[in-house]
This record gives sequence, C-alpha cells and structure tokens, in this order.
Amino acid sequence: MPTVKNIVILISGRGSNMEAIVRSAQTEQWESVLQARIAGVISNRPNAAGLAIARDLGVPTLALDHKIYATREAFDAALAQAIDAWQPDLVLLAGFMRVLTAGFVGRYAGRLMNIHPSLLPSFAGLDTHQRALDTGVKIHGSTVHFVTPDLDDGPIIIQAAVPVLAQDNASTLATRVLQQEHRIYPLAVRWFVEGQLQVEQGRVRQLQGQPQWHMQNE
Ligand code: GRF
Repeated sequence: MPTVKNIVILISGRGSNMEAIVRSAQTEQWESVLQARIAGVISNRPNAAGLAIARDLGVPTLALDHKIYATREAFDAALAQAIDAWQPDLVLLAGFMRVLTAGFVGRYAGRLMNIHPSLLPSFAGLDTHQRALDTGVKIHGSTVHFVTPDLDDGPIIIQAAVPVLAQDNASTLATRVLQQEHRIYPLAVRWFVEGQLQVEQGRVRQLQGQPQWHMQNE
C-alpha cells in the first residue's frame, strides 16, 4: 500500500483557489489515482470564508489566529507545528496574507507553493491589478511558483495570461485572472504530486513537456 501524499493549504480569506484545488482533487480522485489527499486547511483568520467552504467539502480545518502571537516567529512556529501534524508533502499558500519568516520557508523548501496575481516578476506585492492598469500593460495574469524567502519570488511553475481590455477596471481584471488561477493552481499541484516538476538552477521543468503557460481564450 503506497503512502498517501498529504497536501496542506493555507488561506486567509475567500478561499476560492483552495476550493478549486479541493474540487480538482475530488473530481479527479487524487486519493486513489495519485495517492494524494488534501489533509487540511489552515487559516490565520478565524472568520475566513474559506474555512466553511473547506468544511462543507469534507476537509479538516484549523484556525490559527496570528493576532494572539507576540511575534512573527512565534506565529510561524505554531503554524509549522500545526502543519506538521498532517505530515505534509506539499504546503500551498492560497491567498495566505502573511509574510512568512525565512525559517518557516526554509523548513518547507521545495514543497511550498504560492499563487500570485500577476505575471511575475512584474507586480510583486499588493494591488497587482490596479498597478497593471496604471502601468498600461496589455497582458496580465497569474503565477504559481515555489516559495523562497524573498516575497513573490522563487522558481516559476506555471503562468496564466489574460488580455487587459480597454474597459477593464481592477475588479473586472481580477475576476478574469482569478478564473485562470483556478485552472493553473490545481494543475501545478497535480504535477508536483505526480513527480513531474524538476527544479534546476532556479527554473522549473515539466518533465512530460506540458505547456507551463495558459492563455485565456477570448
Ligand atoms: C488570489 O488572487 C491569489 O492570487 C492571491 O490572493 C487571492 C486569493 O483568492 N494570492 P482566494 O482566497 O483563493 O479566493
């Protein structure tokens, strides 16, 4: 009986990327087909909407309120302890709005992923959609990457591109980017558990040669 790979997802709010991953895992029967399961979802905000969504989908949840910890290090230590209880093979940041310490990132090196709503390295940080509009770029998108200690940095696994339309505002652009996020994040996770991702000199190769980009169909 092969051991099952455990995936732990960290959220802070809405949880739509987490939901997309859990639904993919259920629809594609990852537990029997890939020997991988979503072991648990943790939110640093107890009132995160995503916690109820995860519970409704039958996934164990935990709220770990960062506000009760005196330091970032103390919170990260408690978070790592909670994550490790699920013996994770992969930890996913999915709208997790806390900067993590280098110690935390190092603990999960090579098995920690994030999704960021821009085509990195453009627009690291916050307010990516408004900044894309303000800059006047004509193509925008989202990036799934391995996490390194630098914010929104790290080897890029897959990117999705969407056109920036003349009539777009930050909200309409965010909506279209999010639709693509829901396609690429589950795919990146699937590739990881299939052993299809190889990192060499900071670059990620998909061993089967699958396209590591996705274009929104207009
Ligand atoms: C997404 O846009 C993601 O790229 C960013 O935060 C947002 C999270 O949305 N990191 P959700 O909580 O997954 O709905």
